[in-house]
Formats: sequence, structure tokens, C-alpha cells
Amino acid sequence: MLASSRMRVVDLIRRKRDSGELSAEEIKFLIEGYTHGQIPDYQMAAWLMAAWIRGLSPVELAALTEAMLHSGKVLDWSDLPGRKVDKHSTGGVGDKTSMVIAPIVAAGGLIVPMISGRGLGHTGGTLDKLESIPGFNVNLSLVQFREALAKCGYGLIGQTEEIAPADKKIYALRDVTGTVDNPFLICASIMSKKLAEGIDALVLDVKTGSGAFMKKNSDAEYLAGLMVETGKRMGKKVVALITDMDQPLGRTAGNAMEIAECIEVLSGGGPGDLRELCIKLSGWMFFLGEKSASVAEGCKTAEEMIASGGARDKFRQIISQQGGDARVVDEPQRLPQSRGKLDVTSTAAGFVSAIECERLGIACGVLGGGREKKEDAIDPAVGLEFHCRLGDKIERGARLATLHYNSDARLAEARQLVESSYTISAQPPKPRPLIHKVISA
Ligand code: URA
Repeated sequence: MLASSRMRVVDLIRRKRDSGELSAEEIKFLIEGYTHGQIPDYQMAAWLMAAWIRGLSPVELAALTEAMLHSGKVLDWSDLPGRKVDKHSTGGVGDKTSMVIAPIVAAGGLIVPMISGRGLGHTGGTLDKLESIPGFNVNLSLVQFREALAKCGYGLIGQTEEIAPADKKIYALRDVTGTVDNPFLICASIMSKKLAEGIDALVLDVKTGSGAFMKKNSDAEYLAGLMVETGKRMGKKVVALITDMDQPLGRTAGNAMEIAECIEVLSGGGPGDLRELCIKLSGWMFFLGEKSASVAEGCKTAEEMIASGGARDKFRQIISQQGGDARVVDEPQRLPQSRGKLDVTSTAAGFVSAIECERLGIACGVLGGGREKKEDAIDPAVGLEFHCRLGDKIERGARLATLHYNSDARLAEARQLVESSYTISAQPPKPRPLIHKVISA
């Protein structure tokens, strides 16, 4: 039901367009109307673009987050023993930490009711990655989700008609209307679905750099501040790690390829940057979830969960629980594989001094690994494999990346995007840390 028949959406769009402020009631009207199909995509898209350009006041942001949060149920797991903790990333290229962290933290005794999103813009999404595991069902009912939490200590699902349905609809619309990379809209999107999860604590991974929505550190810090503040207002323990996304995380971008890489980390191997970030984020989760007295101790627990095989077992367990083929954990070749591979090589010798990471994400989408329209299907097998990192010294003709493809249709375009993403110079770049800063209340 619309909150008031006197309100007209066009007036709210015009007011935001002209830098005016909407009341909490007006925002609620907009979100309820859109969620229930009474406000069409084109009007919501226009309002989102106005909000993207003009920004939101603190009152508007609080109202938007709360309207989105209360568009569905706020879950309650108080009958399940243990603290409920989650992590969420603002998104990047090759950003696959959820599939590693959730089993680590569940193996360590916390409950992780993880509600994730699909690929957004140039970034990949946890749900799309999980669906590359044959049979894996991310659309559990609440009863099934509870069963997963009780049995496995975690569950990996998407927003449903019951949990933050407003974000589910708005997220898909933003993806295709150029309204993703805005701190207020990201804050409301992430915090509404995370607060609906019924968690005690949340660790945020806020990306900065060429593959992040917030390219500049100062913008990432601003977004982190908004989210930490929102969490605090709602009585949750929230911390945000500002982490580097000036190059892809790990060695791959592409749905099934990223699952295979997560299995490597859960098996004690995998790329150093991915492993380190997963350990740090898990360490913070153990600390906020009161399983460890310090973050350092939490990181040690995370290492132990990998070394003991406990985290890997948890991953196997959740795959079976959610209907997937758990044999992929021991036989990753069972994951979808692409038909062809094409190397992209360097035309110069020198140091890898810059990587246009967003362009690599777009190239992955061009191969079929992401969506350009809401209804596009994803090809789980395609993606990119990266052979060098910032600062590496390479020879002319060295492999920069390998394209894993199934169709020739846009291969040349993807190849060109990848080739043009790398800058090779005589001097190495200034090293960047993996974790730039930690922001807490
Ligand atoms: N992740 C989300 O869940 N929402 C956003 O808006 C961006 C990243």
C-alpha cells in the first residue's frame, strides 16, 4: 500500500533533482511503492540518478536504509546458540573472500547468516559465483536457511521476497542504470540487507582503487564512515577495513574460476593476497564475535581452521546442504570449464606500473561472466586468469592474462580491454598496502 495518495513520485524526483530534501515519510512511500510494483522502474531509476548526483542528507540516508530494511522481515536467530557475525564487501574484481571466510568462521564456532548479492556493474557477485557450483541453490526459504545455520553454522543466500526485497529490486535496477557507485546508495543497500540478517556484528571490506566503486581512498573512507555510523545507530558492532582494489584480488576473475581459487585457499594454498585478506577479515569476525580476545588471536584461529581442514569440511558441508555437488571441493575440474583460452601478452618490457582494474571487470562481463541488462544470463565458465601483479618485472611477450571463453562473438573486444588495462613502465610503481586503514566506531 502506498503511504499517502497525495504524494506524487514525479514531485519527489524533481525535488531531489533540484537538491531538495525528502522527508522520511516520502522516502518510505518511494521504497514501499517500488517494492510492491506500484512505482515503475523508470521513475525509480530517475530518482536514483537524482540521488546519485545530489547525494542524500543524514535524515534521508537513515530513512532510506530503514525503509529498505523494513521492506521485509528482520530475522531473529536468538534461539540458535552463538553470536551471529557477517562480513560484506563493497565489491571488486576477483573479490571472492566470502566463500573462504564464511566456512572459516563457522568452523571456529560463530554463526554466519550471509545474505549476498549478484554481480553489480563491473564487479562479480557471491551468488553468481556460488551458482557456478552445479546444483547450488542460493534461493533458500527462511526455514531452509535456518536449517543450514543450525546444521552447518552458516548459510549463503540472496535477498528474497522476505529479506530486504527492496534492495533486491533496487540493486538490479542500479546495476543497469549507472547508479551503483554512490556512497549513500551503497550504504543503504549493504546496511539494509545486513541489518535484516539478525546479526550482532559486521565486518565491512570497503574497497579502494581502480577496480572499486570508490576509486579514491578518501571516498572509500567516507563510505566506510557512513556504514559504521549506520551500524552503530542500530546497536551493532561494526568495523570497516579499507582494502586495496587497484589490481584484482587473487589470480582469477570469473565465477567458476573464482570458486576453484577459494578451494585452493581453503586447502592451505592459493594466492598470498587473497589468503592474507581472508585471514584478516576472519580475525576481525572472531574478535567482534567475542571468540577471541584480540584480532591477532582471531587471525591465528582462522589459520588453524584452514590447517586443520575444518574450514574445507564446512565448505563441503554447505554445498551439500544447499543442494550442490560437493565433489567439486576435491575435484574442482567438475566446475564448469570454458571451451577456449587466449593469452594476452605484453608488447613491452618493464614493470607493471598500473592496472585498470575496472576495465578487467568489464572484460570479464564482455566474455559473458557478468550482466549488461537485468535479464542477461551468466556464463559460469568464462573469466580471466591473471599472470602478473603490480610491480612485477616482465619481458616483452610475457603473458599478462589469459581469457577463458566460450564464444568468439566478443572475444576481440574483451582481448582489447584486457590488453589496454596494463601499463608497463621503466620504473616500478609505489607499493600499496593490502589493508589501507581500519575504521571503527
Ligand atoms: N554491494 C552491495 O550489496 N550493494 C551495493 O550497492 C554495492 C555493493
